[in-house]
Amino acid sequence: MQVLSRLKGKSLVEPEDFSLDEMDGLFELSENIERNDKYLRESCRGKLLAALFFEPSTRTRLSFEAAMLRLGGSCLGFAEPGSSSASKGESLADTIRMAASYADAIVMRNPKEGAALLASRYSSIPVINAGDGGHHHPTQTLTDLLTIKRLLGKIGNLTVGFCGDLKFGRTVHSLAKALARYENIKLIFISPAELTLPEYIKNNFKKQNAQFDERENLEKSMPELDVLYMTRVQKERFFNEDDYIRLKDTYVLDSDKMASGREKLVVLHPLPRVNEISVEVDSDRRAAYFIQAKYGMYVRMALLASILGVIC
Ligand code: CP
Repeated sequence: MQVLSRLKGKSLVEPEDFSLDEMDGLFELSENIERNDKYLRESCRGKLLAALFFEPSTRTRLSFEAAMLRLGGSCLGFAEPGSSSASKGESLADTIRMAASYADAIVMRNPKEGAALLASRYSSIPVINAGDGGHHHPTQTLTDLLTIKRLLGKIGNLTVGFCGDLKFGRTVHSLAKALARYENIKLIFISPAELTLPEYIKNNFKKQNAQFDERENLEKSMPELDVLYMTRVQKERFFNEDDYIRLKDTYVLDSDKMASGREKLVVLHPLPRVNEISVEVDSDRRAAYFIQAKYGMYVRMALLASILGVIC
């Protein structure tokens, strides 16, 4: 885990900001923390995390706060912009300068694509992107990769299907980009024609020589998949509510569809779920989305300890 010393003081804006070695180091550290809940406890005593959430969140915000508290540190911040001076017209750059003068690291969710990059340029402390519009969500990617590694024992040599809103789904953009860096990954993108992946993400795959395929039918794809990543249709990114209503229930994963999945299939979802996974699937041993959310806390502990430089 020597490699993690390189992360001290670094921001995480996009999944490619960390090397594969650095991500492996984070996964190893996460597993150590999971095995021994005393590991790194108190290591962040006296450190402060500023959690600036300009958009709603349950998992990302709470898991970051839980991670910091479990490391012995403290948190400050806001859970919605109305309670900050952003509501009086303060710019993001000024908000970030203020948070950077009070805290040791910033985790930020913002509805604008590129907001995390801008924040990292104005900040004197590390900035962690907790989601910037429909762009990226790199700590969800760390969560997803750790879950795949823990449940399948590897990240390479896999066929991974993504289903749902691939246009606006930032977790899909980040995870697909990250998976394309691993050996022998086949990516299958299943969506209605109106919600396909943005061109800039596909162009990236072409540059990486990544294997990928776009389809509309989930049932027919099920038998091929090692991992199925279901996603919610992102209501908050639609300009037209009629389009959202028409598209929201295009895919519903239920027991009938699960019946054609492999015995060792892993079903992931970044959550929150709306209708796209029927609750009857929750009791299927291949449904991994709740344990995935718990791994998110361990990997965020590993990330905070690394960027704050408290690992001996
Ligand atoms: N996965 C995720 O980002 O969930 P929240 O929106 O609840 O943070």
